[in-house]
Amino acid sequence: MSDADRAYDRASTHDPAHGVDGVDRVDGVFPPDFLWGAATSSFQIEGSTTADGRSPSIWDTFCATPGAILDGSDGTTACDHYRRWADDLDLIAELGFAAYRFSIAWPRVVPGGRGTVNAAGLDFYERLVDGALARGLTPHATLYHWDLPQVLEDDGGWTNRDTASAFADYAEAVAARLGDRVAAYATLNEPWCSAFLGYDYGEHAPGRREPEARQRAVHHLLLAHGFALPRLRAHAGRSRHGIVLNFTPAYPLRPHDHLDQEAVRRHETYNHDVFLAPLFEGSYPSEVLDHAIGGGYPIEHGDMQLISAPLDFLGVNYYTRCLVSLAPSGGAWPAVTTHRSEGAEHTAMQWEVYPDALRDLLVDLHRRANLPLYVTENGAAYHDQSVDGAGVIQDHDRWEYYKRHIAAVARARAAGADVRGYFAWSLLDNFEWAYGYTKRFGIVHVDYDTQARTPKLSATLLSEAVRAAARGVLNDVNPVTGRTV
Ligand code: FCB
Repeated sequence: MSDADRAYDRASTHDPAHGVDGVDRVDGVFPPDFLWGAATSSFQIEGSTTADGRSPSIWDTFCATPGAILDGSDGTTACDHYRRWADDLDLIAELGFAAYRFSIAWPRVVPGGRGTVNAAGLDFYERLVDGALARGLTPHATLYHWDLPQVLEDDGGWTNRDTASAFADYAEAVAARLGDRVAAYATLNEPWCSAFLGYDYGEHAPGRREPEARQRAVHHLLLAHGFALPRLRAHAGRSRHGIVLNFTPAYPLRPHDHLDQEAVRRHETYNHDVFLAPLFEGSYPSEVLDHAIGGGYPIEHGDMQLISAPLDFLGVNYYTRCLVSLAPSGGAWPAVTTHRSEGAEHTAMQWEVYPDALRDLLVDLHRRANLPLYVTENGAAYHDQSVDGAGVIQDHDRWEYYKRHIAAVARARAAGADVRGYFAWSLLDNFEWAYGYTKRFGIVHVDYDTQARTPKLSATLLSEAVRAAARGVLNDVNPVTGRTV
């Protein structure tokens, strides 16, 4: 047993005498330079979709498709952040965060998808980055949070290899302008969602339901990442470069059932290893290739070497876990069925609240990839119905979610996982993709009629926790009230 394993075993022993998830007994677990931040993405908050030369993205098109978005809404106004960015940065700084994770909209920077760079688009992000720095905030930029220029989708989108090289050109244009003022560049946010939800399940833009297209999209997204990395390093040599993946770790429906354990293995291979193995081992899992359909993964000579180039960090987005078993009627691999965890707590997304999976995930990723990790997204949608006399949302449920997940990060760190930062999703209530504006993930409430921003109770408490962590006293978080003492 390694030291890390021993530490992990110690940290996982729950001691009820020491409060929720033992957060208060993990001494000095968050160093002063641990990066506490808030996260957003371009399409979800910016609005101003035709300003300064921006072209339509696949999400503008998808929103215009009847039935695609639950409330029939779109990103035309969203949180009007394109015009209110300075106030929003003030808010992040006032809340005491040290970092801001945002994304850059490709259709603003290269409206034609490839070719001419739109200086006005870059101007916006330069103002944002300089504005963040002026307020003492560390900028973490994501280059692709799903808003592909529609013109590229018209040419096949991520099923077309040319999209990967167009992405690298766009990434280079951004890094050439912003350079190492951006502390960390993530190439892609959650390529699983782009490929699986966008090209196979039809739930996200571009709304295609073609499993074969999903395979091509997986490879070209990874290739886009691989093509972009050296270009980013050339222009932003002092920045850190990485990628952000999403994880929904699987657990067996019946813990000791061998078939359910096999379902776990298949779920992990199909959804997670399909990205982790190319990035960190230089090849797709053989099972993924064996079960590929149609033309399979369009791998060309040299691709895997580019895709597996060393990274400076891995961004980890975590919200929930899933329970799995093998599909009773068999069917196409991976033939896994997911189940609701009966009796467990769920958020407004019907996602189970299960902080232990975040701890386990971070420890596993540390063992597997051995590089700095950032929790780039974690948070929850709730119904936000309880409002106090001053109009402040009393979202104790959301704060409880944060507190328990931060405790899980603390325990992962105590077990040796090299987690360097934690970003709350999200700073603002915003456009939640296929759910439109019906799901609120913000720690700050947005009134979509007036655009007024009102920090919820969770923002205030998170702000206290972040300040306590900076003083090295986060261990004083009172597990009962959630207040720092
Ligand atoms: C993630 C997305 C993010 C947000 C959260 C709730 O998958 O990256 O934009 O929608 O889910």
